[in-house]
Amino acid sequence: MEKLIGPKKIKIAVFISGKGSNLNNLIKFSKLKNYPFLISLIISNTKKAEGLRFSKKYGIEKKIIKYEKNLQIDKKILKILKKRNIKLICLAGFMKILSKNFIKKFQGKIINIHPSLLPKYKGLNTHLRAIQNKEKYAGCSVHYVTSKLDSGKIILQKKVKISKKETDVSLAKKVLKKEHLIYPAAIKKILN
Ligand code: GAR
Repeated sequence: MEKLIGPKKIKIAVFISGKGSNLNNLIKFSKLKNYPFLISLIISNTKKAEGLRFSKKYGIEKKIIKYEKNLQIDKKILKILKKRNIKLICLAGFMKILSKNFIKKFQGKIINIHPSLLPKYKGLNTHLRAIQNKEKYAGCSVHYVTSKLDSGKIILQKKVKISKKETDVSLAKKVLKKEHLIYPAAIKKILN
């Protein structure tokens, strides 16, 4: 496929805490011509995040910032983002809640992927709760981040069927596949 990395692409920072499969997927899509973005920074709140390995693999700058809700840390991150001309933040398995101040300063330019069909199952353990509640469907959502947890405007969603023998582990795998489809598509949608 044709590739384009250049001035037409807007710069994104991806915030992670764990495996980074969404990060890896976004990096792959960012290399395609018809996806108008470039992942130019990875921020993790922990040095233990496995996803940090994609920094070395793809030559993308990384920062480990022990995130806490305080003005000093907000300022530090905002400075880093400004210096690198970051126009959009994509949270991808980032397990910290950003401060109201930070969200306000980067208003309308932070999006998140959440493993449920929002507004259902905000917060943690989404798959287990969906199975326990005998839901027929589960899924994932890409949404804007506001100061209310997992409540901002939805950009894209995809659902999957919960099978009879489903476990939270099998469901997480199934949903993750869909996450990898909708996250790049959602970014493209808001940038176009
Ligand atoms: C993904 O399933 C994502 O939806 C979820 O964490 C996983 C990260 O996987 N996010 C949340 O639960 C946020 N509340 P990854 O590190 O392999 O991309």
